[in-house]
Amino acid sequence: MKGLILSGGKGTRMRPITHTAAKQLLPVANKPILFYGIEALIDAGIKEIGIIISPETGNDVKECVGDGSRWGIKIDYILQAEPLGLAHAVKTARDFLKDSPFVMYLGDNLIKDGVGPLVERFKQGGADAFILLKEVANPSSFGVALLDPDGRINCLEEKPAKPKSNLALVGVYLFNPKIHVAIDRIKPSKRGELEITDAIQELINTGNRVDSHILTSWWLDTGKKDDMLEANRVVLDEMTDVAMNGDMDGSSRVSGRVQIGKGSKLINCTVRGPAVIGENCHLENSYVGPFTSIGDGARVSHAEIEHCILREKCQIMEFHGRIADSLIGVNVELTRSNNKPHAFRLMIGDDSKVEVV
Ligand code: DAU
Repeated sequence: MKGLILSGGKGTRMRPITHTAAKQLLPVANKPILFYGIEALIDAGIKEIGIIISPETGNDVKECVGDGSRWGIKIDYILQAEPLGLAHAVKTARDFLKDSPFVMYLGDNLIKDGVGPLVERFKQGGADAFILLKEVANPSSFGVALLDPDGRINCLEEKPAKPKSNLALVGVYLFNPKIHVAIDRIKPSKRGELEITDAIQELINTGNRVDSHILTSWWLDTGKKDDMLEANRVVLDEMTDVAMNGDMDGSSRVSGRVQIGKGSKLINCTVRGPAVIGENCHLENSYVGPFTSIGDGARVSHAEIEHCILREKCQIMEFHGRIADSLIGVNVELTRSNNKPHAFRLMIGDDSKVEVV
């Protein structure tokens, strides 16, 4: 069994955050989203993983992930020249996949229970494809499946305006090589993409067996800012390890599940977990509230931060206000020139400079 992780695409929905960076490298609890997918495949016993990359962000992905040796596996990179759809990505990976069965994992998805049990079920069950479904409140944002009363898939539609059910396709799929035949038969959709949803429908139409499983545990598609914050919340909520590898002075307080990285310093701060603070951060006269992740090298003074993702090296200095529900990019400098208390909800791209007056 091989693994194919899709980390191409353009990430337009996360701009400006992804103007300069791959959305799959955005951190959840200070770890790139993509790593959760890689680790889920490795935990399922998969040792050969191919990652689809785009010309725009492929080098960043390669640099961040490496050749796989840190996990003791081999990672191949497959360049998809244009984001022409999930089925097009599979087509592009044909040389890597050969005739092996494979798990396709969308690089911006997170699922709680990993994929090990699904891989086992697929290996033993004899289906040609196996998909995961999840009840959602907004099915028209996803691929949607309609099931027959006996639980068999009746039909699939990609982002329908009038969804026939509330069962969304989760971004983890298991296929045997018959999917390549189906992909060769489908045409691009109205939005110009070769849809994997259409390829699976084609498998069904041509008499192949597609099994499904409805997930009851959480699944997150981190396409938008609030999805990222929700992913961060859910992952931090389940964090069990506590680690204090930095320093704090006598007037700082840390409570709950908190991880603080090497070289970080807290002066007169309160941190309430669950929260993670990376390495070499400097926090002064500040409050860090639950569900917050702060990236390596960040500096914060006179600020209250809660339910936020602050990326590496961002600086929020002399802020005298509260920042909640926010995603702040790498290297952002955020300052204020008055000290009336305020609350802010922000999404700020990498390398920005913002002065609140
Ligand atoms: O998240 C689940 C949904 O994922 C499913 O319900 C949909 O049926 C499926 O089409 C997909 O929809 P999205 O709109 O979320 O797909 P997105 O364009 O965000 O792409 C998913 C991942 O695949 C993302 O990491 C980027 C990557 N990708 C995407 C395209 C279109 C590629 O690597 N190449 C591509 O051509």
